[in-house]
Amino acid sequence: MKKTLILSYTPRDNSNTKKMLDFFIENNQDKTEITFVDLAEEAPDLLLKENLNLYVNRNFGGVELTNEQQKVLSKNDKMMQQLLDTDFVVLASPMYNFSVPATVKAWFDAVIQAGKTFTYTETGIKGLCENTKALVLMTSGSDFGIEPYKSVNFATPFLLTSFNFLGISTEVINKFGMVQYADKSEQMIEDAKEEIKEVSNKWY
Ligand SMILES: Cc1cc2nc3c(=O)[nH]c(=O)nc-3n(C[C@H](O)[C@H](O)[C@H](O)COP(=O)(O)O)c2cc1C
Repeated sequence: MKKTLILSYTPRDNSNTKKMLDFFIENNQDKTEITFVDLAEEAPDLLLKENLNLYVNRNFGGVELTNEQQKVLSKNDKMMQQLLDTDFVVLASPMYNFSVPATVKAWFDAVIQAGKTFTYTETGIKGLCENTKALVLMTSGSDFGIEPYKSVNFATPFLLTSFNFLGISTEVINKFGMVQYADKSEQMIEDAKEEIKEVSNKWY
């Protein structure tokens, strides 16, 4: 059975993004082996002075770390391994402040690791997760499909660029304007469900 890694950052009570993710899970839980990571309960470690230097020394400098040092990196390494071990990734998150919530960014900082999930070749950088596919489920309060906000949607370009950097082809289901068009939010979620079904049929 193919494996699916679910990354959920949906902490708000009655989260709309969670409704989309819950539908994905209901629709597919019999067809795939799911690993569920709740990024609103357990955040990856931020890259701070100690772990950043250990990571750089190990992954770029070829330094062999002691067991104690390795332990400092173990939480983020585990998240990276979950990515290496999966066939599919589903990331569910709202837009926060024109971008992704800090915890979601921290997940990318944890899993984008030189020599593990990407490498350098003579022709440039190569993602090492080329057999993996991703689906992003995102909502926002305002309509980021039109100006003045369209050009300041830093979330979608960040997510597509980051997954692409890892070699992961990605589909995006954005339901923008959940607050702006509150009266249409239920319909937007119903529309998302149809799009989720289409992606699911392709995947499984
Ligand atoms: C901390 C925070 C930051 C937000 N930033 C934005 C934003 O930059 N643009 C926007 O349109 N909506 C923003 N919103 C609104 C949410 O993106 C929107 O309500 C979303 O649908 C919430 O998803 P949820 O129902 O899954 O919690 C923000 C909400 C919060 C709580």
